[in-house]
Amino acid sequence: MSYPFPPHFLWGAATASYQIEGAWDEDGKGESIWDRFSHTPGSIDNNDNGDIACDHYHRYKADVALMRRLGLMAYRFSVSWPRIFPTGRGKVNLPGLDFYDRLVDEVLEAGITPMLTLYHWDLPQALQDQGGWTNRETCPAFADYSAAVVKRLGDRVQYWTTFNEPRVVMLLGYMLGEHAPGIQELRAAYQTAHHLMVAHGMAVQAIKALNPRLQTSIVLDQCIIDPATDSPEDAAAADEAWKNRESLFLDCIFKAHYPESSWEQMGENAPEILDGDMALISQKLDFLGLNSYFRWVVNAQGILEHVPGSEYTAMGWEVHAPALRKLLNKLHAEYRLPPIYITENGAAFQDEVAEDGAIHDDRRLDYLRQHLIQTSLAIQDGVDVRGYFAWSLLDNFEWKRGYSKRFGIVRVDYETQARTIKDSGHWYRRVIAANAVDDQ
Ligand code: FCB
Repeated sequence: MSYPFPPHFLWGAATASYQIEGAWDEDGKGESIWDRFSHTPGSIDNNDNGDIACDHYHRYKADVALMRRLGLMAYRFSVSWPRIFPTGRGKVNLPGLDFYDRLVDEVLEAGITPMLTLYHWDLPQALQDQGGWTNRETCPAFADYSAAVVKRLGDRVQYWTTFNEPRVVMLLGYMLGEHAPGIQELRAAYQTAHHLMVAHGMAVQAIKALNPRLQTSIVLDQCIIDPATDSPEDAAAADEAWKNRESLFLDCIFKAHYPESSWEQMGENAPEILDGDMALISQKLDFLGLNSYFRWVVNAQGILEHVPGSEYTAMGWEVHAPALRKLLNKLHAEYRLPPIYITENGAAFQDEVAEDGAIHDDRRLDYLRQHLIQTSLAIQDGVDVRGYFAWSLLDNFEWKRGYSKRFGIVRVDYETQARTIKDSGHWYRRVIAANAVDDQ
């Protein structure tokens, strides 16, 4: 059976600056918090770092040629703030802007639509030294940086995202310390969450002030939380977990208030909020980016580590595609949302290179197939999904896991920097061409 997609559905793949670019200190780029964090021994598996990564900074032309071979219609990438402002603010570093200028031209030349993320986690270290996201001064600095990028690229880039996954910044960066800047402090984490929202609002204003026709968005990571059994206790636990884990940023942006349950949870660690902040945060957006990879299953004791009978990826994430359709419907029912783009979805598995050099990544292919089927069904249910971006175009630096986890539909040999399209990539090209996905 074949599952169709609407005409003009935007098929793409996604990456992020620190994960692929390398060239960490070239052409005047300043140090980012990820440079500092990954250069600190013990932070990253195998002490890997993004100094070279996929060397995309030098190989971007070949990478765009790959995108063309894959038949991509869109490419989601992020800009590294410290390439543009090495110390976060002040004088623009022109060579940094020039790189993205060349990249965007190359992408457009290939007939591909660029979608640009302003912040995919690589804050200039100089701003971190002044408190990073706990310091409100970082918010106007972000808006100024956003404006500088829009001034240079706004004539060619139509789709703009302020932040990628603010929750991950708050949780892994400031609460658990597993990501840069490696802080473990509740109060700092909640203040960060609020400042990310304020910075988002300021950047949306800055973008619209320069050109009201540009499409603005934020990318949120969300997942469905299912109860382990149909007992009322488990149902209540699932409900509670959704309220505590999933509604924070959605409520802020689309309902202009923090959920009451988060407020209670934060208690004395609640952030400082200024008059007018909620209006600033909840401005109208042109689209919502949604990243989703897995679901949680919970009972009254918490999250189940293993759901009997389920398949897991190399990240230890459960594979359960129906959750994506359910999530899209739930968001559609509970919020008044602009059109949605699935800005990330994909899977890490242990790839093997066959003797002839091919990568028969059947499990990744099947993961993508199942999630696309569920996306098609959600669209038939009435959810306005306009596009899908596979994570990721390339195997890359997977944050705390370093190079040990591969998400690419294209393999990267880190010794030689050779790229090989995996079976999933060849298959994705056929899906794009057909604008439909088959169930086998
Ligand atoms: C998301 C990130 C992305 C990538 C995937 C696997 O949380 O946005 O950079 O690491 O997970």
